[in-house]
Amino acid sequence: MKALVTGGAGFIGSHLVDHLVSQGVNVVVVDNLSMGDLHNIKHQGEVTIYIEDVRNEKFMQQLLQEERPDYIYFLAAVASVADSIERPAETHSVNQTAVFNMLEYLRKAELPIKKFLFTSSAAVYGNLPELPKTEGSRVDPLSPYAIDKYATERFVLAYGDLYDLPTVCVRFFNVYGPGQNPSSPYSGVLSILTDCLQNNKLFTLYGDGKQTRDFVYVEDVIQALWLITKSKTSHEVFNIANGNETSLNSIIKMYEMVAGSKLKIKVSHGREGEVKRSVANIGKLVKLGYTAKWSLEAGLSKYWEGTQQSEASRN
Ligand code: NAD
Ligand code: UD1
Repeated sequence: MKALVTGGAGFIGSHLVDHLVSQGVNVVVVDNLSMGDLHNIKHQGEVTIYIEDVRNEKFMQQLLQEERPDYIYFLAAVASVADSIERPAETHSVNQTAVFNMLEYLRKAELPIKKFLFTSSAAVYGNLPELPKTEGSRVDPLSPYAIDKYATERFVLAYGDLYDLPTVCVRFFNVYGPGQNPSSPYSGVLSILTDCLQNNKLFTLYGDGKQTRDFVYVEDVIQALWLITKSKTSHEVFNIANGNETSLNSIIKMYEMVAGSKLKIKVSHGREGEVKRSVANIGKLVKLGYTAKWSLEAGLSKYWEGTQQSEASRN
């Protein structure tokens, strides 16, 4: 079995790559390292890595012809809602066009694949009042990021149906854990919180902190992706989450307890295009055998311990 993971040097991608390798899968990665880092991949020596842009159509076509992956996991993306508002055209070319071009090539070249998995986002649900979100809930994508994710989902599912490609979309909620890059102001909030707590930096809180998210530890996400890989399911959408709603204020308090230190906070205006409340119904995933194994407290503790250990080994 061979798998292609685009964005495989990134946060979630690198955890997926390591899991696939541990299961005996032959893995090929494409990543332009705009946010990723090869050090994220523990099994680097056992993986074929191409440092390339997924928008390089010629390269991607040649890669598919030469590598012939059975499974394709499309994770490469500009993963920030706020960044997509700053740079809508550029993020669109990665978050939608690159995926579409790959689907189109798979169709035209009639390459046999066992599964094409596209990583969408809880951002597609927007601010409609129905909670928790099921996969059938109405959507209301509010940002270029969310629009690209939703529109691409539709292409992925339609290509599946129309051209008999085994496609699946997953909607990640807010994933956290080791390997998430905190270096951009648009990075995931828990990576920024970790950096601020560890290095005594000032944290900017956008809004009143009452916004909620369904935070899910990355190991649970990998569990879910592996269950979907092994199942026969296709032409489906799955929420991947923990199933609990937590406000930013609560998670800050909880993380301060775990870290044993107080966060320095500056309050700023809420960001445009943001979702106010987010929580998933994970019933569909549970039917595949999923259980969220990591409570927020356990996940935060593991994440924090890991960062302390890497800090100690650097010194
Ligand atoms: P990440 O930024 O760590 O990973 C994305 C990877 O894609 C990075 O390694 C980056 O270098 C690479 N990349 C970006 N543009 C590229 C390009 N043009 N060509 C090649 N590589 C490129 O983000 P992540 O959190 O690991 O997200 C992975 C996927 O999951 C993304 O599609 C993201 O939209 C989606 N997602 C993430 C979350 C979350 O909470 N982290 C939630 C919902 C959806
Ligand atoms: C995150 C993911 C996105 C994913 C979505 C699914 C990242 C960068 N974003 O977006 O890929 O599709 O979940 O739900 O991984 N905040 C602060 N201060 C900061 C940073 C953030 O207050 O320094 C706030 C934000 O304004 C937001 C909340 O924290 O209200 C979460 O922000 P963020 O981690 O960027 O997540 P989402 O926008 O939910």
